[in-house]
Amino acid sequence: MTANPLIAAPFTVHSTAAEVVDGIDLTGRRVIVTGGASGIGIETARALAGAGAEVTLAVRNLAAGERTASDIITTTGNEHVLAAPLDLADQESVASFIAAWDGPLHILVNNAGVMASPEMRTPEGWELQFATNHLGHFALATGLHRALAVAGSARVVSVSSSAHLRSPVVFEDIHFRQRGYEPWSAYGQSKTANVLFAVEATKRWASDGITVNALMPGGIRTGLQRYVTGAELDRMRALAGGGGPAWKTPEQGAATSVLVATSPLLDGVGGRYFEDCNEAEPNQPGTRRGVAAYALDPEAAARLWQVSAEMLAAVATVAG
Ligand SMILES: NC(=O)c1ccc[n+]([C@@H]2O[C@H](COP(=O)([O-])OP(=O)(O)OC[C@H]3O[C@@H](n4cnc5c(N)ncnc54)[C@H](OP(=O)(O)O)[C@@H]3O)[C@@H](O)[C@H]2O)c1
Repeated sequence: MTANPLIAAPFTVHSTAAEVVDGIDLTGRRVIVTGGASGIGIETARALAGAGAEVTLAVRNLAAGERTASDIITTTGNEHVLAAPLDLADQESVASFIAAWDGPLHILVNNAGVMASPEMRTPEGWELQFATNHLGHFALATGLHRALAVAGSARVVSVSSSAHLRSPVVFEDIHFRQRGYEPWSAYGQSKTANVLFAVEATKRWASDGITVNALMPGGIRTGLQRYVTGAELDRMRALAGGGGPAWKTPEQGAATSVLVATSPLLDGVGGRYFEDCNEAEPNQPGTRRGVAAYALDPEAAARLWQVSAEMLAAVATVAG
């Protein structure tokens, strides 16, 4: 069997979101960016709005979302930028967002996330990072499937992380009920789930013209590191190495998301993992780059889909 060649784009670790989308016209395209009121979400939304798209910032802090929307309108001149409430750790909030969405959806950027938080649980008893980073986005994307399908050739962007190398999805104990809670394992598991989602969603939805890819944005100083000490951060950066800048700017951090959302090089391409604006090589043990084989495993991807659907259905049954 011949492996598909890796997608190579003419961009690098230094490229910005604006450079990646330069020359691409998104007029008439409708976009959702989750977590669009902070960090790389802002610059992802700004670049897509700058290319002419209608952009909805799906945010849990609506006042911050409205401030960001008005800033993006001012800097891009595109008036079609708005904010809408969405709390990914609250299934009722996700359901309300989906119910309020009307018409086609061309690009869904599943960007929001929480990293290495202390042990916290949703009312369902779900571990917070898995609930937010994976289950909330799984519910959102599957709930918006029809809107994506009617768009014709929609893309879903699943913002993962090199931290997926820290853990596969541990199906035997996803919510840390038997094993001791470890914040980085929980984050890594949720970020592996983001890649597996891209694999299975592409398999299920390619016939609707929908493709889903995952990515590592790079290391960017944002609100994401709120639970991490300075010393721990320095150690992480030293370990990461890789020859790129120590930290990317938010504009550089948004570049790979915007590439995956818009590049013609990815037309019809799904189920893959990108970093630094190019498709990633397989991870080499002992390094923090590339993609783990377990994150692209089709059997694990199918299993995760089934398990996720069952978790959501159990909640819906209780609520109903
Ligand atoms: N920064 C990095 O170095 C890095 C590296 C690898 C991967 N990533 C990934 O990149 C993505 C964006 O991160 P970032 O660096 O831009 O961090 P950020 O500035 O903290 O942005 C994350 C966003 O997610 C939102 N969020 C958290 N929990 C939520 C919930 N329950 N419902 C809705 N929104 C929620 C946050 O909202 P609040 O502002 O209300 O908290 C925030 O807007 C994440 O998926 C992260 O895992 C980042």
